[in-house]
Amino acid sequence: MRIGVLLGGDSSEREVSLKSGNCIASAIESLGHEAIKIDPRHIDITLQGFFNLDKVFIALHGGMGESGHIQALLDLLKIPYTGSGLLASATSLNKSKTKEVWKSHGLKTADWIQVNKHTPTESIKNSLADLTYPVVVKPLNQGCSIGITKADNPEQLFDALIKAFEYDDNILVETFITGREYTCAILDGQPLPSVQIKSDTFFDWDAKFGKQTATYHCPSDLTAEQEEKMQQAALKAYQVLGCRGWGRVDTFLDDEGEVHLIEMNTVPGMTTRSVFPMAAKEVGLSFEDTIAKLLDAASY
Ligand code: DAL
Ligand code: MG
Repeated sequence: MRIGVLLGGDSSEREVSLKSGNCIASAIESLGHEAIKIDPRHIDITLQGFFNLDKVFIALHGGMGESGHIQALLDLLKIPYTGSGLLASATSLNKSKTKEVWKSHGLKTADWIQVNKHTPTESIKNSLADLTYPVVVKPLNQGCSIGITKADNPEQLFDALIKAFEYDDNILVETFITGREYTCAILDGQPLPSVQIKSDTFFDWDAKFGKQTATYHCPSDLTAEQEEKMQQAALKAYQVLGCRGWGRVDTFLDDEGEVHLIEMNTVPGMTTRSVFPMAAKEVGLSFEDTIAKLLDAASY
């Protein structure tokens, strides 16, 4: 088969996407298919590339590649693609909409306030006057923890807002959950073993991709009962958003043993350091097996 691998793109996660896409293209070639790498920064090349493709593997993180735009284009072109469709992609990339859906289904997620850049400063100040610190400030539509900062007091909050507004006109100010951090991947509608994230510093872009101080542990430290609770919460989080094919749900387990949902990733990282392949390996799936399963499930 001729498989188009969409990688790169123009989002702030471009570099991670290039790494994911290159790993995926190598795996597709190992499976005996032809991998056509397409970087949709160049839309004319993209459109030509779509012709004669049997399927498309979307390895784009963030931006138009994870927001439903590319998915809609492939729907129109009737080319099967990996992962979620238009609505689940669009909802999941928007952290606020994601949380609204989760809350409406009774799932736990940290309280948050959404702030728009163009709101008068006094109104922003008023809306944030009664916060309980620490809080986490996040651009609404970014992945890979880009532009995210933890703020322990109003001065830090101010700096965090300025930083987050560099990436998005809308940001989230979210209550910081104290507890242990996990992420749970879903493949083919089944949760994979959860992965524990350990980081001495706040788990931000630097801990993930810069200094890489974070470490990932699979199997995690959860008891069988906690693991079941974590997996069921992640699965429900994925299902209520209408996700398809695969995904990864980031979570916290608080000191009372409650699972708090943080965000939904519809195009999880697939670099050599990423946690999705790590979790798949734990159930005996090689990187190539995982890619083959995702391609089998591709649809439009
Ligand atoms: N957005 C990044 C790539 C992830 O969640 O894995
Ligand atoms: Mg993410």
